Amino acid sequence: MAYRVGIVGVGPVGDRILSVLRERNFPIEGDPVVMATRERTEILAGEEVLVREVAEEHFEGLDVVFFAGREGAKGASVQWGQVATDAGAWAIDNGSDFRMSEGYSLIVPEVNMDAVTEENKHICSPNCSTIQMVVAIAPIHRAVGIKRVVVSTYQATSGWGQAAMEEFEQQVQQYAAGEEVQWDPGIFDKPIVFDCLPRIDAFLDTGYTREEMKMVNETRKIMSEPCMAITATTVRVPVVIGHAEAINLELERPLSREEALEILRDPQQSPGVTVIDDPENKKYPTQADCVLDPYKDDVLVGRVRADESVEFGLNMWCVSDNLRKGAATNTVQIAQGLIERGLL
Ligand SMILES: NC(=O)c1ccc[n+]([C@@H]2O[C@H](COP(=O)([O-])OP(=O)(O)OC[C@H]3O[C@@H](n4cnc5c(N)ncnc54)[C@H](OP(=O)(O)O)[C@@H]3O)[C@@H](O)[C@H]2O)c1
Repeated sequence: MAYRVGIVGVGPVGDRILSVLRERNFPIEGDPVVMATRERTEILAGEEVLVREVAEEHFEGLDVVFFAGREGAKGASVQWGQVATDAGAWAIDNGSDFRMSEGYSLIVPEVNMDAVTEENKHICSPNCSTIQMVVAIAPIHRAVGIKRVVVSTYQATSGWGQAAMEEFEQQVQQYAAGEEVQWDPGIFDKPIVFDCLPRIDAFLDTGYTREEMKMVNETRKIMSEPCMAITATTVRVPVVIGHAEAINLELERPLSREEALEILRDPQQSPGVTVIDDPENKKYPTQADCVLDPYKDDVLVGRVRADESVEFGLNMWCVSDNLRKGAATNTVQIAQGLIERGLL
């Protein structure tokens, strides 16, 4: 059986969606229908692809549509999500517009694939920082219970999209050439080259940013723990691809470093997690590691250690490719999960 596949959006996430579909031999009938705001030809996943201007007629007959457009009223899934599901397709959406809405499931396959229902055909994929965190902490929660999460992130420029990746690369070149560094205040507040910016997405009245509250609210929804205590500080760092997170957990029951490592190293208990934690040999995961072939769809975990400043505390560091497991891979895994369950 093969499926008619649509992709809306051809930025770095749309590109990775096609790559992951090809790598996993996802059964696609004919050419995928690729759409963006205007018609042209693009190289996506190394293939020359006809990009159509998004229009209702292109959704007809599709079985599954991956949304990798922008958010908001003029964004791809707000404008076209319902069109896709009305045409009978499953919509799998990277954007944030519907993640917290009633009737939309929010899915990380390693954690809550069972939350998918046939009635809710518009499925949301969480924020990139949330995805990697829940893959890393859900096994610990299942084993001993988590009372409180304190997370600080170190997020790559590609999390903002193609324009931010290009701007950062230009700034590196300007800096190296001894030129004045230029920046677009519509992307980041300051030049990102050689700096870390503790604002991702808009500030709210509380002083938190939207990105921080996405981590709080989305984690609670995915883990079905509406009251879990979570606080986040999200920071943009001068890295092109790969988000890192320092995660501090307060647990319900004691868990030593060795016990935590045993859980995290067990693929049955911790699907999607790869542990790189060998202090004696100075081994721990970094953003440069997570884009390497063996790790590019994994959540890498290291620096696991007891936090002795609280009762039953645990610290860990986790790293993942924000464009793949943080976006594209997660959505393709959702589609594969639908096939496994006979829903697609
Ligand atoms: N980057 C990440 O790490 C990451 C992680 C998780 C989720 N996400 C989410 O994934 C989505 C895509 O991210 P990205 O980084 O690839 O973005 P991007 O570089 O800004 O690319 C967005 C793409 O969407 C298309 N598009 C925008 N509005 C559209 C509309 N109304 N109809 C049809 N196409 C539309 C654009 O078309 P044109 O090319 O024609 O302008 C462009 O190809 C965003 O919602 C983002 O928040 C991103």
